[in-house]
Amino acid sequence: MIAFRNVGVVFETNKGAVHAVRDVSFTIERESVFGIIGASGAGKSTLLRTINGLEKPTSGEVQVDGQIVNHLSTRKMREHREGIGMIFQHFNLIVSKTVAQNIAYPLKIAGKNGMLIGERVDELLKLVDLEDKKHVYPAKLSGGQKQRVGIARALANHTKILLCDEPTSALDAETTKTILQLLKRLSQELGITIVLITHELDVVSSICDKVAVMSEGRVVETGGIYDVFTNPREEYTKKLLETRYDFAIPAEALEKIRWTNAEQGRHWKIIRLDYIGEKAYEPVISRISKQFDVEIDVIHGKIEYIQGKPAGRMYVALSGEREEAAKTLAYLAGQVHSVEILYEQQHEQQYSRLT
Ligand SMILES: Nc1ncnc2c1ncn2[C@@H]1O[C@H](COP(=O)(O)OP(=O)(O)OP(=O)(O)O)[C@@H](O)[C@H]1O
Ligand SMILES: [Mg+2]
Repeated sequence: MIAFRNVGVVFETNKGAVHAVRDVSFTIERESVFGIIGASGAGKSTLLRTINGLEKPTSGEVQVDGQIVNHLSTRKMREHREGIGMIFQHFNLIVSKTVAQNIAYPLKIAGKNGMLIGERVDELLKLVDLEDKKHVYPAKLSGGQKQRVGIARALANHTKILLCDEPTSALDAETTKTILQLLKRLSQELGITIVLITHELDVVSSICDKVAVMSEGRVVETGGIYDVFTNPREEYTKKLLETRYDFAIPAEALEKIRWTNAEQGRHWKIIRLDYIGEKAYEPVISRISKQFDVEIDVIHGKIEYIQGKPAGRMYVALSGEREEAAKTLAYLAGQVHSVEILYEQQHEQQYSRLT
């Protein structure tokens, strides 16, 4: 287990003190995949680096498996670091060494003997599926292959903790997926704890169990992915997640809805429905058109599965008699997580945006 207790990191610079990390307390369970998200400069990398002692807390303490990292002697710190691997956005491979030599590097540093190193390197190449690239130099590898070398190197010393600082930020979407799958598989098969910094919410939702959201040095929110994603408590997290689902209804679509309804003399609204948990399974839309004398058209929708549970948002146009529309809204409010009216017709030719 990794535990942060009131951790602060202050950098003294010639422009004054920089409070990179402020009073951070939370724990990361063993063998879990833990995400850290937050804006640039929030303190994510600094916090991550306190785990392997590359950054020393100026206050508070960092504990890894019961051992307080801040107070380790030089020798103990070296041992501690050997048990923790790290991978980076730009891979940080040694360009003058082959794939095998890159992977062997931490084993050499740890003083392992040549034959053991050879065997372990072959094992690791197999683990990350790069056996055919053993004697190739990094310049000849794709980004995804480079990151796989990075992962093999980070795990070389039978590492139990893997720190990942934006490991997929330099990769395309497809490659990102394969690297994340590999990380997930390794965490399950080898029982390693993964701490992963990212600014991509998709990365967090696809492989992390829990997340900490950082803003200006503080952890403003922490918890299970599904809970944080569907029920953010802090303003910062709300805004962050809002961009994920946000959808601006095109002016053309609004205009079309206005005139078709005006032509038929119907009252209309555009509403946003948020779906969370069990309620996301309910066939709400089809039921409405059967139970109420209204028309309901889906303009845009996104439902996704986070940790196997559905969450999503739908934009619909609702039209009909005022009274029937009001009844429909009341029904909807009981069926989905939240209902919000975005646009409402005022007079025949006018409508207004409400939020
Ligand atoms: N060695 C250092 N000396 C002085 N200031 C530093 C040092 N390292 C980081 N900082 C400052 O600490 C703050 C947090 O930096 P950090 O790199 O941890 O942020 P981050 O969340 O990882 O950002 P990014 O997403 O851009 O990587 C920033 O204001 C940064 O400028
Ligand atoms: Mg960083």
